[in-house]
Amino acid sequence: MDSNKDAEDNFTLYLDPSAPIEARVEDLLKRMTLDEKCSLCVGKSFWKTRPVKRLSIPSLGLTDGPHGVGPHSSGWKRNTYFPTLICMGATFNRQLAKQFGTALAEETRACGKHQILGPGMNIQRSPACGRTFEYLSEDPYLNKELAKEIIAGIQSRRIAACAKHFIVNNQETRRFGVNVNVSKRALHEIYFPAFKAAVEEGGVWSVMACYNRINGKLGSEHQHILKDILMDEWGFRGYVVSDWFATKGTSGTSDVVNAGLTLEMPGGILGIKRLKKKKIRAAIERGEVSESTLDENIKRLLRVMFLVGLFDDESSIPPGSRNTPEHVALSRKIAEEGMVLLKNNDSTLPLNVDEMKTIAITGPNAGKKKGMWGGSSEVWPPFEITPRDGITSRVKDKLRVVSDVQQADAVIYVGGLGHKSGQDAEGSDKKSLELPKDQASEILETVRANPRTIVVLVSGSPVAMDDWIDQVPAVIEAWYGGMEAGSVIAGIIFGDVNPSGKLPITFPKKLSDSPAHASERTFPGILTKRRFWQRISNKPTKPVDNVYYDEGIFVGYRHFDTRCIEPLFPFGHGLSYSTFSYGPVTMKRKNSEGKARMEVFITITNDGIVKGSETVQLYVTDVESSESRPEKELKGFHKVHLEPGEGETIRFNLLGEDFSFFSEKQGKWILEPGEFSIKIGASSRDIRQEKRVTILDTQLHVK
Ligand code: BGC
Repeated sequence: MDSNKDAEDNFTLYLDPSAPIEARVEDLLKRMTLDEKCSLCVGKSFWKTRPVKRLSIPSLGLTDGPHGVGPHSSGWKRNTYFPTLICMGATFNRQLAKQFGTALAEETRACGKHQILGPGMNIQRSPACGRTFEYLSEDPYLNKELAKEIIAGIQSRRIAACAKHFIVNNQETRRFGVNVNVSKRALHEIYFPAFKAAVEEGGVWSVMACYNRINGKLGSEHQHILKDILMDEWGFRGYVVSDWFATKGTSGTSDVVNAGLTLEMPGGILGIKRLKKKKIRAAIERGEVSESTLDENIKRLLRVMFLVGLFDDESSIPPGSRNTPEHVALSRKIAEEGMVLLKNNDSTLPLNVDEMKTIAITGPNAGKKKGMWGGSSEVWPPFEITPRDGITSRVKDKLRVVSDVQQADAVIYVGGLGHKSGQDAEGSDKKSLELPKDQASEILETVRANPRTIVVLVSGSPVAMDDWIDQVPAVIEAWYGGMEAGSVIAGIIFGDVNPSGKLPITFPKKLSDSPAHASERTFPGILTKRRFWQRISNKPTKPVDNVYYDEGIFVGYRHFDTRCIEPLFPFGHGLSYSTFSYGPVTMKRKNSEGKARMEVFITITNDGIVKGSETVQLYVTDVESSESRPEKELKGFHKVHLEPGEGETIRFNLLGEDFSFFSEKQGKWILEPGEFSIKIGASSRDIRQEKRVTILDTQLHVK
């Protein structure tokens, strides 16, 4: 009997890789002392958790960031620099998003890490946000469709993804603690969808709480947001990590633990240590925290430790790899599909090398590398091809590169932004959309000297172009296109690559046209004056700064279209060297597994003479509604790759939720029967086909 019991005790179920994960979690948890559990609540250092030697629990290694494994968190390793997430957003390509996630995970594993701190999933509420380049889109549907694929890719390699920053971290100004006043409806319709899908459809293993307050409470101690919504409503089973130093302004240990936050980061001498052993113990003794709540938080982290294979033999875990030719090729492919041809008058592009003798390459970004800097998302690649390098090598032995723009057969002006404070960088926002320094006048001078001037913008967010756009025949938005960006820019200029990127964000004519910029109150908020030391410390401000999301659900094109404001370039816009025609729309109601859906069919044909890709976008308009709704909302997209003359019939599936809105009054999503319009087009402002339909009920019966 006794010997049986001994055998039972010695059998460490949690170390058995063939046992179910939940059984391993339970087994390990019951062996842990209170102190051991507490020790898992604060990181050991900046980038890892504390090991528990007695139980052979190793450290879980975390690393930044969204578009490549950061050097600062990987022991200064050089890794593949993928295009930043705004460029990924512009690809509108789910498959590519998954491949990207998979490659990111392989790089993470090869750096000896188990979790990557991405994707960045905040909505691009304002083009002025310093981290716009790190996020995917202003649109909740595009955001969720790509984010869940990235997550699926990452986790397919048993690396934990981390959906960040939960939630409404939409500005960098006073990000440590600014109080975001946002309606329930805007949360549900705009800001939640990607995170909800990450949990419900992507099964994400980790979520990073935000720095800011949401309707009065900091993200790290927001019981309603973390417990009630993320965990209880959506069924999140992974663990919540704080953003770095975010626990500083929290009210206390018990609030953070009770909100469901498991891991406070970073640890080490610089850490805040709200979740220090002593403090948690004291909170338990005071009866403010129950041990079962702590257990639940710990279980979440242990679950992820098992999922990433922390206790398993290396041979059973998907292997890692870094800087492989495949990863570099993928980085290039994302850039090829994400760069956007904004303007191309009279087919200025592509340039034909055979008809030219000289070319000039100028502008402040022509020779700049962009991987490093920008904040936590920086990547240090083994090489990076600048626009000048890429173009020069493409025209080698064919054209003479000259510096006198007047002597050139064409001029490539590479301008845009950089990862500097006040531009595309973490920790600060842009004050305006104007190009820095004298770029606007330089462009005008250049185009005056040589009308065949092509502007290439290297930036991670929209810039103003009103001063010069009418004089320039062609403009490419190249984003921060990863380590191969220069070659891809050259490929687009000379027609080796047929551009197919579409804007995932509206380019306004001026910042004040943007919905978040009605007043200071709406961006960056009503700020308290602070002394110098207060400004440089990360302490959330007291009294609290407030920003008001008065625009509600009217974010991005929802605002521009509903209020009839002409953008510089609309959401979804992007040109190609091919032309595509859109056939008539047909619809069919279907019912499978008790769920009604409306199938929408359209045939797209490449009428051009080169092969190309088109992103076909489907928008829904609620023609009549009891509550105000946007003029249109994206509810489907397909990217099709077509040879010249080739056509393809695409099917969209619309569900009841695609016609619904979140009613603030009723506190739930509702579908109001009535007339809807289905719009299909090449951008939000280039609708090619429209079909009206009267929906009779939630089962999508139509008249
Ligand atoms: C950023 C996070 C990042 C973390 C660790 C924070 O300042 O907001 O996105 O993952 O630092 O570098």
